[in-house]
Amino acid sequence: MPSGEPRREPIIELAHAGVIFATSKGDPLVAVEDMSLTIYREEIVSLVGPSGCGKSTVLRMLAGLQQPTSGDIWIGGGKTRRGFSEVAIVFQRPTLLPWLSVMDNVLYPVKVLQRPTKAHRSRAMELLELVGLQDMAERMPHELSGGMQQRASIARSLILDPKILLMDEPFGALDALTREDLQLDLLDIHAETRKTILLVTHSINEAVLLSDRVAVMSARPGRMQDLVEIDVPKPRGAESAARPDFLALSQRIRDDIFGPRTGRKGRRA
Ligand SMILES: Nc1ncnc2c1ncn2[C@@H]1O[C@H](COP(=O)(O)OP(=O)(O)OP(=O)(O)O)[C@@H](O)[C@H]1O
Ligand SMILES: [Mg+2]
Repeated sequence: MPSGEPRREPIIELAHAGVIFATSKGDPLVAVEDMSLTIYREEIVSLVGPSGCGKSTVLRMLAGLQQPTSGDIWIGGGKTRRGFSEVAIVFQRPTLLPWLSVMDNVLYPVKVLQRPTKAHRSRAMELLELVGLQDMAERMPHELSGGMQQRASIARSLILDPKILLMDEPFGALDALTREDLQLDLLDIHAETRKTILLVTHSINEAVLLSDRVAVMSARPGRMQDLVEIDVPKPRGAESAARPDFLALSQRIRDDIFGPRTGRKGRRA
């Protein structure tokens, strides 16, 4: 590694991790098999792959919501086995409590643990500013658009200052324009907070735009199929998507998932 480049410190390691579910039919279902992946501090990594390949299961393992049935996971640089307190998760749909104001929703994780102090309130306000909701602090969730609610959920995920943000299709329920807006906001949030982010997405474009690396999983049972370094220059913006290197990386990931284009009308094999 050339001098001057920061040392890459692992923060998440999946080592041959697998998950087998017992199903109601009685047959075991192999959801994830032999999944190995190292994610480094401050990286943004996207996890893509066909529906049902085990992306959410991987995220749930890292959040401590699902035990691996084989292999192992390490969080916090190989020191802490399963250091789940370092982790926050954002789901596809905002999960705000409808009877609390936006500010109180952002403070909720603090309230579960202790009484919020003035410092917590001012941090919550900073986070609301970071996601562009500074004027909405006293509003109730139903007064917010879907995009605003998801912004509030992201602010809430940061209140306990986790080292790792796990995001499961966080923009999947939003319209295309709001989605583009939030994608670029996520890059700003990352620039400001330097969190390590693992993002599950169905959008190859989104994965290439936002990530340092894209992990492609195969169809079930989900395994690592390809790991793609995204060297599109930063800072990135909407215009990055027109660059030849961006398009070539998107095509490589598309080919990984669907197979190369062949035959009449460019149908896939
Ligand atoms: N609790 C469970 N019990 C049994 N099977 C499960 C359970 N959770 C997930 N599965 C199965 O494991 C496989 C992987 O599911 P998972 O939700 O991780 O996929 P995914 O890649 O996130 O899919 P999608 O892209 O549609 O969100 C699927 O076949 C699913 O049916
Ligand atoms: Mg999923």
